[in-house]
Amino acid sequence: MTNTASHAWAALAAHHREFGEKHLRDLFRDDPDRAASLSLSFEDILFDFSKQRLTQGTLDLLVGLAEAASVPEAIRRMFDGERINTTEKRSVLHVALRRFSGPFPDARTDVMPDVLATRGRMAKFAEQLRAGKSQGAHGMAIHDVVNIGIGGSDLGPKMVSQALRALAHPTLKVHYVSNLDGAQLAPLLQTLDPRTTLFIVVSKTFTTQETMLNAETARQWLRANLGGEVDLARHFAAVSSRPERAAAFGVGPERVFPIWDWVGGRYSLWSAVGLALMIAIGPHAFDELLRGAERMDEHFRATPLARNLPVVMGLIGVWNTNFLGAATHAVLPYNESLKYLPSFLQQLEMESNGKSVGSAGDPVGSATCPIVWGELGNNGQHAFFQLLHQGGRLVPCDFIASVRSDYPLPGHQEALLSNCFAQTSALAFGKTAEEVRESMERENVAPEEIAGLLPHRVFAGNQPSSTLLLKSLSPATVGALIALYEHKVFVQGAIWGINSFDQWGVELGKAMASRILPAFADPSLASALDASTRALLAYCRRPS
Ligand code: F6P
Repeated sequence: MTNTASHAWAALAAHHREFGEKHLRDLFRDDPDRAASLSLSFEDILFDFSKQRLTQGTLDLLVGLAEAASVPEAIRRMFDGERINTTEKRSVLHVALRRFSGPFPDARTDVMPDVLATRGRMAKFAEQLRAGKSQGAHGMAIHDVVNIGIGGSDLGPKMVSQALRALAHPTLKVHYVSNLDGAQLAPLLQTLDPRTTLFIVVSKTFTTQETMLNAETARQWLRANLGGEVDLARHFAAVSSRPERAAAFGVGPERVFPIWDWVGGRYSLWSAVGLALMIAIGPHAFDELLRGAERMDEHFRATPLARNLPVVMGLIGVWNTNFLGAATHAVLPYNESLKYLPSFLQQLEMESNGKSVGSAGDPVGSATCPIVWGELGNNGQHAFFQLLHQGGRLVPCDFIASVRSDYPLPGHQEALLSNCFAQTSALAFGKTAEEVRESMERENVAPEEIAGLLPHRVFAGNQPSSTLLLKSLSPATVGALIALYEHKVFVQGAIWGINSFDQWGVELGKAMASRILPAFADPSLASALDASTRALLAYCRRPS
């Protein structure tokens, strides 16, 4: 039986029929203490969900759904190292990557010796680079580190490097290259000195086309600029679960860092995939990041469902998606340092739960992951927020801000936070026709003008949002925040009954691209392709 067929689901559906379109204005009028009762905190993170369209009664029913869907059992199974990634027959143990002692998950299958040994090797490698003791083939200290990877081998470390850039090494620069488009790598190479550049090729499979092509181009650039006879291995390191492939590429064994098949790409920033990040912020800050995540793991594992942040956050998403009917979810950071959080969460959420077939191969029977999108909130206010306020679509939002800034300019932080809070209020409460009329009358606007403008100036409100307010972007808080979202995704996957840890949906396009590529060189191969693709290829061949 799918969870959508459970009594708990039916009870929520009935509750929703009764709840109807109840407005957040009324919910706050009926319960002025909502801000206190409908918020949770964990260390330096406040999670205020009082502006979600729900009541304590809704939450109780949602917790009932989590129980009916065996969420506690699912959590236990993950932490026990069971093979919950059934289609790939793998355990899901990214939580091991932020632990500091073992055995874990148990004495028989303990992964901690490998995890800790690798972390130790990473720290040594990072320290050497940070101290200027790692030299290129010409004996010059490395000044620039380029992470070549894509998806999970790029987004996580890049996002956290930006989030914690206040802690970055003052002179050693870390760059991220992911795109096949030469327009990313070529301009970067123009700014780099090959004698002082190190490339870290990060690919769990070490077959990903984008990464392999960018790595090959980097190798050719080094060869062309350093001279044919030099030891290029001094300019490469690699992270992979297939070390033999990294060795075949020419990376020395002491510079190949392992990851394991029990960590999914989008959950891997805590592993050696985070090597460039560790180089940027240093092993100590990296450890703090892990410790913050580890404490969130413990909270997730041990806290009763109703007070468990990832559980409550996941359940709110289920309510918005499956009962209120939201098709999208906006992530709106009010902190420049979190500018890559929306794209990181897009992969985390949509690659994990963007599925319509359940673990057992049956249709899920309900909507699953919403379309996750977002942008820095303050910039978005002057761009797409118009639609959030008056477009008539339901778009639940996460507002994420920090009380303290790492870059305090006089007056900026308060102004930023007031905008953040103002948007959550405006979205929730809107402005009625009566309020619009009164304010225009106060401004002595002529009655005929009021009549003409009034419909344009009404804000329906009732747009649900949560606010995640962090005290600051410390490594531990950032670690806890990411782990919070990871576990939220897990909870939703458990409720929808899907395997959140495979990604079969990315395969078809890869296979097709490999069939199309040869047709650029040999047009006769295009005949095997579909008519639209043939036409596109023909257009590319036309003389300009
Ligand atoms: O194509 C999707 C994907 O497999 C992601 O799941 C993964 O994070 C990314 O590609 C990169 O994969 P790899 O680390 O093997 O290069």
